[in-house]
Amino acid sequence: MTQADLVLRGARLLTLAPLKDERPRVGPSAGDVGVVAGGWVASRDGAIVATGHGDSHERLARADGAVERDVAGRVVMPGLVDPHTHLCYAGERWEEFATRRSGAEYLAVLAAGGGIHATVRATRDASDDELLALLRRRIGDATELGTTTIEVKSGYGLEPEEELRQLRLIARAKAEAPIDVAVTYLAAHALPAPYTDERRRFIGAARAALATVAREKLAEAVDAFVEKGVFDVADVRPLFAAARTAGLAVTLHADQLNDVGAAAFAARVRARSADHVAHASADGVRALARAGVPAVLLPGSAFFVGYPPPDARRFISARVPVALATDHNPGTSPLEGMATAIALGVTLCGLTPHEAIVAATINAAHALGRGDRAGALVAGRRADILVLESDDERELAYRMGAPLVAEVYAAGKRVA
Ligand code: NIG
Ligand code: FE
Repeated sequence: MTQADLVLRGARLLTLAPLKDERPRVGPSAGDVGVVAGGWVASRDGAIVATGHGDSHERLARADGAVERDVAGRVVMPGLVDPHTHLCYAGERWEEFATRRSGAEYLAVLAAGGGIHATVRATRDASDDELLALLRRRIGDATELGTTTIEVKSGYGLEPEEELRQLRLIARAKAEAPIDVAVTYLAAHALPAPYTDERRRFIGAARAALATVAREKLAEAVDAFVEKGVFDVADVRPLFAAARTAGLAVTLHADQLNDVGAAAFAARVRARSADHVAHASADGVRALARAGVPAVLLPGSAFFVGYPPPDARRFISARVPVALATDHNPGTSPLEGMATAIALGVTLCGLTPHEAIVAATINAAHALGRGDRAGALVAGRRADILVLESDDERELAYRMGAPLVAEVYAAGKRVA
């Protein structure tokens, strides 16, 4: 008989279970959260063993010391998945934050040696212990706010040796984290001074570092900032080819402030995701749909920088899988928590509340190559579960900033 060591019952259960196949939800299905009234979920040893409704959980045996609760009609749903963050940094950017008013100014500050470069200086100056403490605290904060899978990028080292230091620190934070961490080597974020006017030489150095990244298993994916005046598609193509050869996925900061053809490029190279895409062309959107590449919308950076946010309706109507992320970073998006990203995804990008929840769970899991492992309450998946202090999940989008995440379970253990 199946045994359970955790049973949450009497719930408005959102399963986000796959519909016909394991693919992300698109088009008319993009808002299907899989509601089970009077539902329950049970797990054992960190994995979900079954879900159901009514009294059918009584057929499950209970392990010794099992935790069991009637949640009295509250929402029980998958833990949130944040597929794009830059948590590994030191220092803040108060001056830039207070004076900057547009995406154009953001790029001007960067070109003048500030912006990303300011954070690179502060991060390089931070000791291993300092950076590790910052990573721990930020992963802990995300957990408190209901995130149970989080992507963490490097990217504030720029020069490969310093990028490798940061990736090794992220690996240490991952090993002790209560939640699942997906690590990305953001290899081409900005051009460091020793390589001024030598983008090709810099890309060559980043490519050379991939052997170490693969050998030490320091990252699952390689990322690049493809933007006017930063890196273009031609710069990044050889980097991504080398990443593929090294067995790594690729993902990119695509068409964030200008249309540079990065969405179509993401489709061509079968990227794991194309992120930002606020300025993606109609062709770029169609290409993503054809390739089934998820668009990760980052409304936090549009909100804080003040550029037009991505219009989610363009992606939903073209049947592009849509995901949401915080993009947490000190420059464009000092945003905490996926619930806030959900609220901004609705107010700024035009998602419905249910589409935003899909975008923050199962579709976000797909954007991290975990569409068959995370983001849904289905037997066999990790028991990453939230209990909301609400009987209506749409409150996540509506009561922005409210403390709605009451309980967080990661791999079946209460972590917040
Ligand atoms: O996703 N635009 C590129 N990268 C980050 C911001 C990095 C920074 O400004 O520190 C982003 O917006
Ligand atoms: Fe980013």
